[in-house]
Amino acid sequence: MHITIIGTGYVGLTTGVCLAGIGHQVICVDVMPERVAAINEARSPFYEPGLDEMLSSALANGRLRATTELASAVAASEVTFITVGTPQIDGDIDLSYVSAAARQIGSALRDVSGYHVVAVKSTVIPGTTDTLVRNMIEETSGRATGEFGLCMNPEFLREGSAIDDFNNPDRIVIGQWDEKSGRVLAQLYESFDCPMVFTTLRNAEMVKYASNSLLATLISFSNEIAALCEVTPDTDVDVVLGGVHLDRRLSGVNGERISPGVLSFLRAGCGFGGSCLPKDVNALRAYARQQSVTPSLLDAVMAINAERPARLVRLAEDALGSLEGATVALLGLAFKAGTDDVRESPALAVMNHLLSKGAVVRSYDPIFTSAPAGLRVDENVHFCHTLREALAGADAALVITGWPEFAEADWKTLPGEMRRQLIIDGRNFLRDVSWPQGVTYLTIGRMPESAIVKSVEELAAQ
Ligand code: NAD
Ligand code: UGA
Repeated sequence: MHITIIGTGYVGLTTGVCLAGIGHQVICVDVMPERVAAINEARSPFYEPGLDEMLSSALANGRLRATTELASAVAASEVTFITVGTPQIDGDIDLSYVSAAARQIGSALRDVSGYHVVAVKSTVIPGTTDTLVRNMIEETSGRATGEFGLCMNPEFLREGSAIDDFNNPDRIVIGQWDEKSGRVLAQLYESFDCPMVFTTLRNAEMVKYASNSLLATLISFSNEIAALCEVTPDTDVDVVLGGVHLDRRLSGVNGERISPGVLSFLRAGCGFGGSCLPKDVNALRAYARQQSVTPSLLDAVMAINAERPARLVRLAEDALGSLEGATVALLGLAFKAGTDDVRESPALAVMNHLLSKGAVVRSYDPIFTSAPAGLRVDENVHFCHTLREALAGADAALVITGWPEFAEADWKTLPGEMRRQLIIDGRNFLRDVSWPQGVTYLTIGRMPESAIVKSVEELAAQ
């Protein structure tokens, strides 16, 4: 099929190369000429494992091209996806990019005679597709819905594993204006082997918010248990949640133990970030209030999350006595490993707390050896090129992003570079390291002096 994708961010470009990969003919449209040029030169405008290779092969076999010319792209296609951003403004969703894209698509459809389906893939609050998007397209195209197709097809991919997630979906949700629209999208995805849910436009929009809100809730739940473990001697949140994970209702299938991905959201840490979980939970909270519903649980999810970075910094402050004049190595800037996205990254909040307490920050992230584009950084933040350089002379190191490089580092010798050998693990992922003598290693969800009574494996064996 011939497809146009409006917006070449993580979702748009991944969708484009993956659909080209299964044989569709794809045109990617963006308003940023430099993005379009980079894509046409087989350079992804952002870091996503495997994307450059997929992009090269899609360009080489002529299945994908990028352009700034939206109207001609739409005219040459049967389906147009809207994958533009839906950022937050003061906690509410900003639908201006979706609205502009819908208007431009509608204008383009004025000159198109055949049946065309517009599918919203951006995450939008319930009602957006069948009001804002539909109205814009009707107004600018001069056609009634039905003469063109309308779908809402949420995307569930994660940054860092976007290609694999897109190619191996758990489910494909197709919100449809009418059956005819939905049938076209189903045809597009016919080679995928997963449940396909055909439903209303608003159910599809709500499935997306409910999914991200559940993930955020699991993380904040885990962090609340961690906070309790931190004040309870002889407890350890990893052991406690490891015991919870073994509940057959969470991990049992036909008597066999499996480890479903959702358990990776029942882990304590320094909080969730990224371009989606915080913004989507906030958008749903704002929507709830507009509907006169108090979203008490989601309010608490965000409140717990907001506290995490400060708690981590407090651990360092308590251990050092004061952070005034201290040098702190900040290990990881990206909101999670495998991406170069720093939007809402807990690392930025940790950095600000450290600076406000008078610390000097030495930052190291395998992807950012200088300040991320667009980020205004204080003069007391220094960007280092290696882990060793960041640790040199530091009074403490805070691990924020779970980069494999940190787990594989030479921790036998690295702490020797530090002035005071205090390592605080905001992701609890260096617990298996054998620390040399002299190192104080603190983790989330455990009183500093408490011992691990039973390992998760021991619990599993019982
Ligand atoms: P992004 O901000 O990385 O990219 C959006 C792109 O759209 C930009 O390149 C921008 O220039 C372009 N754009 C904006 N208006 C345009 C227009 N009128 N015409 C052409 N291009 C236009 O966005 P993203 O992270 O890919 O997210 C897109 C949507 O998908 C959001 O609603 C997000 O919530 C949702 N989503 C994101 C992810 C993710 O992992 N990032 C996963 C699932 C869903
Ligand atoms: C998330 C969802 O996982 C995707 O399904 C969804 O499509 C996407 O949002 C979206 O709508 O954009 P993503 O933001 O890429 O994907 O990242 P996640 O892997 O979900 O991680 C989000 C944050 O939660 C990260 O900061 C991560 O470090 C943190 N996290 C995750 C925890 O703090 N604890 C956990 O146990 C798991």
